Amino acid sequence: MSTRSSAIRPAILAMQQNGIGTVSSLGLGDPDIIPLWFGETDLVTPAFIREAAKRALDEGRTFYSGARGIRPLRQAVAEFYRRVLGVEVDVARISLPGAATLALVTALECVVETGDNVVMVSPVWPSIFQAVEVIGGESRFVRLDEDWSATPPCWRLDLQKLFDACDGRTKAIFVASPGNPTGWVMSRAEQEAVLAFARERGIAIISDEVYGTLVFGERQHAPSFLELATGDDDVFVVNGFSKAWAMTGWRIGWLVHPQKLDRQMDVICIANNTGPAAFAQYGALAALSPEGDAFRGQMLAYCRAGRKVVQEFLATQNRIRWIEPEGAFYGFLQIEGMTDSLTFASDLVRRARVGVSPGSAFAPPEDKASDSCIRICYAQNPDRLRQGLARLATAVGER
Ligand SMILES: Cc1ncc(COP(=O)(O)O)c(C=O)c1O
Repeated sequence: MSTRSSAIRPAILAMQQNGIGTVSSLGLGDPDIIPLWFGETDLVTPAFIREAAKRALDEGRTFYSGARGIRPLRQAVAEFYRRVLGVEVDVARISLPGAATLALVTALECVVETGDNVVMVSPVWPSIFQAVEVIGGESRFVRLDEDWSATPPCWRLDLQKLFDACDGRTKAIFVASPGNPTGWVMSRAEQEAVLAFARERGIAIISDEVYGTLVFGERQHAPSFLELATGDDDVFVVNGFSKAWAMTGWRIGWLVHPQKLDRQMDVICIANNTGPAAFAQYGALAALSPEGDAFRGQMLAYCRAGRKVVQEFLATQNRIRWIEPEGAFYGFLQIEGMTDSLTFASDLVRRARVGVSPGSAFAPPEDKASDSCIRICYAQNPDRLRQGLARLATAVGER
């Protein structure tokens, strides 16, 4: 090893691939493997969205187009909230810096300095705690409790535990609802309590609502912090086109930020990416049309069908169970007797030819309960999904 000193931050040098990456690298692109490991549907982006982007390219929209997104798209996001949530969001609070991931990073950049911490409800999508690490913060995890005695079994958020995890260096509370990997949906009452606490303590809320419209109840959208918070609150709400519009490869999403950051966002968005791809924005504009709303309905129906396939499968299993998700498109499946999800998921790829994510990827090492789980994405062709689940059942039976 070289003895030369290095300018690279130790935290960067120490970074490890998360478990989703480790497992998927064992078989990515292999046609024999049924891939349920990533957070995406197998549906291609609908044709009317692709056509809109193609038209934009043919019209020569290949230039810089504004670091916070083109004005009509920012206005269409405001209109989306009017239509879906019945709330008014000032366009000055809406920016499209790139994908939802970049919107989250942008929110973190606004609040976290080296040594600060972010308290997050877990199990949680790993990129968020890796992003906190990249910018020099510390992630603190507050695990949802499992209530298997409830009918049906459910996740419960212990608000006191969440508040007790906050200290003087806590700059943000991060919540994704509906959650990845749990499908848990935060209630209005929980949001009210968290907002009151955050206001009192001067803590920001980063609310990840990328699965906001993928909910199985009566509502069109899961309860949103935008229905409670005002533009004066230090509340950031993130959403994007990846999930509900089947546009993961487009890398476009948005951030609703506090009103006071209007001017600063011009600078931050230039510094981060100078905006999303020009032609992708025209696809996104089409996604926010009535045709896009209709597609979201189809996408939700596809998720519902996938969820039913998993429900029917689990009814035949006595060693695999789940807390039924209320939203998003994941099953977080607990496997009896399994204690090392990374080894289990790696063996599944190699031997059973089905790709899943290890539960350990969504939690810190001390969270043993998550290590007895795997995550699957069920927004898939039902036959392929059934086939993948059958392979899983065989592998569990052989243990
Ligand atoms: C909770 C959550 N937030 C954000 C994202 C990222 O969205 P995007 O692909 O638009 O960056 C994901 C993707 O898996 C996610 O699960």
